[in-house]
Amino acid sequence: MELAELKTMYKLPTHIGFIIDGNGRWAKKRNLPRSQGHIKGFNRLEKVYKMVRELGIKYISIYAFSTENWNRPKEEVDGLMKLFRRVIKDFYNKNKYEDTRIEFFGDLNRFEEDIKTGALDIMERTKNNKDFHINICMNYGGREDIVQAVNKLIKQGKTLVTIEDISQNLYSKNCPDPDFIIRTSGECRLSNFMPWQSTYSELYFPKVLWPDFSKKDLIEAIKEYSSRDRRFGAIKE
Ligand code: IPE
Ligand code: IPE
Ligand code: MG
Repeated sequence: MELAELKTMYKLPTHIGFIIDGNGRWAKKRNLPRSQGHIKGFNRLEKVYKMVRELGIKYISIYAFSTENWNRPKEEVDGLMKLFRRVIKDFYNKNKYEDTRIEFFGDLNRFEEDIKTGALDIMERTKNNKDFHINICMNYGGREDIVQAVNKLIKQGKTLVTIEDISQNLYSKNCPDPDFIIRTSGECRLSNFMPWQSTYSELYFPKVLWPDFSKKDLIEAIKEYSSRDRRFGAIKE
């Protein structure tokens, strides 16, 4: 089935959040070092952006590295930093991303200077692009995001805040809440991914490990989303 056909057959989300889990288990199953799983997993990303775009979905957020992931062995963290450098280099390829707005969600100060400045530069250079949006969550923690938003508001002198105030000060201020969150590898939790924005997200936990996530898995996911009845607390006539 062609992905473009799905548009006419199924209800599609506007924003998909992907928690890309299972890289380590993918490697372990093959007796490979965990870093190989991450390489495979990061290679998948470009294919997934393409597929999601083909479907006509406007926003995609990738949970690539949590604030808690710094607690992993140094060797693994170093391997992931190498991959972030590669991701940043790839985003500099103008032809591929000229109509895409790329944002990094998370505190970039914890990264080495080249990663931080590369990420900031890409955000600046793509800020007027509108057709497709990719958000990379790295050193991202949903609770930390809420706290930094509240602190910004306090600095502005606010003593009472609204839902809108907080939403407008989160990293995700430029995009709608994710309608659909897919976490691969069968784990049924969000692990600090968008707690504020996911209150009404449809959650989906396929067993597939992220490095194996294929077109078939995306189609399955879209079918699942389309079958959900989103009521937002109301009832149907
Ligand atoms: C997710 O894969 C990717 C990152 C956290 C960067 P994991 O590394 O968590 O894979 P598992 O859960 O150990 O299989
Ligand atoms: C969540 O996965 C973070 C990312 C996918 C980047 P983890 O593998 O770190 O989460 P836990 O430890 O299973 O909750
Ligand atoms: Mg994991």
